[in-house]
Amino acid sequence: MTTISSIKTVWKHRHLLGLEHLSAEEITLLLDEADLYAAHAEAGRLKHQVLSGTLVAQLFFENSTRTRSSFGLAARRLAADTLDFTPSSSSLSKGESFIDTAQNLVAMGARIVVVRHCVPGTPQLLTKYTDASVVNAGDGAHEHPTQALLDLMTIRQRKGRIAGLTVALVGDILHSRVARSNIWALKKLGARVVLCGPPTLVSDRWSKLGCEVYHHLDDILPEVDVVNVLRIQFERQRSALFPSVSEYFQLYGMTRRRMEMGRPEMLLLAPGPINRGVELTPEVADGPHSAILDQVTNGLAVRMAVLGLIQGRQAPPLE
Ligand code: CP
Repeated sequence: MTTISSIKTVWKHRHLLGLEHLSAEEITLLLDEADLYAAHAEAGRLKHQVLSGTLVAQLFFENSTRTRSSFGLAARRLAADTLDFTPSSSSLSKGESFIDTAQNLVAMGARIVVVRHCVPGTPQLLTKYTDASVVNAGDGAHEHPTQALLDLMTIRQRKGRIAGLTVALVGDILHSRVARSNIWALKKLGARVVLCGPPTLVSDRWSKLGCEVYHHLDDILPEVDVVNVLRIQFERQRSALFPSVSEYFQLYGMTRRRMEMGRPEMLLLAPGPINRGVELTPEVADGPHSAILDQVTNGLAVRMAVLGLIQGRQAPPLE
């Protein structure tokens, strides 16, 4: 078990802005902490006095179901107070700036700010203007660190390891912050990462990050241990990058036939939201290989681990 002194030796960050600059040891510590919170939950111990009296502010400038809900729940499970800011009904409409808005929320006592924004680098910017801890809940196409952590937690749960596995990220890699965070974390923990999608969404330059690039999904499936199906991010595309959704589905959609081309124990992940009939069929989404809802469950434990560690607090030991 990780001790308090080893946590302080390994983890020295006040913020979680991405996974690119974390070490394998730091990522493993986050996953171990998340496993500990998950084990407590399994044993019926849902609430912990880890962040009692701490105010966590959520600033979501893009829509979210999973990330926003689970950060809020994670904070409350750690006995923190929460402040959920909604841009559309705020004084942003009266001309107040993003930075002024954040500073006002911190002035109410927020010690942690969880931020999602369409502009890459926004969480980093916030660290310059407030003294709160900042957590990146997704910044444009840059990073979505807690999504990648929950993906890795789910892989470790199901496969027992990350090192040596072949993990395929399929779909809209170009616009995907989930892909970037997954690539950094999977490579650091020793996985082989293969990227697959249309050349307009997965160019060969991705191989500079140590990934293998493919454009024919059927060719790679027999070698894959985990396939992570990424959503087509139409909202970030400025022009059509493939002829039609139905053609995309024919070439890259996960169907029962494609699942049967993989290894019998191939694991299927998808960060959500999923678009049934675009990236995967309903029977694959709900089928025996799918861990999509386990990912969501694990997201809560991951976010508890992150909120605790950036405040220098660890999960209570198992009894
Ligand atoms: N996967 C993910 O980030 O989902 P939300 O956009 O619903 O938070």
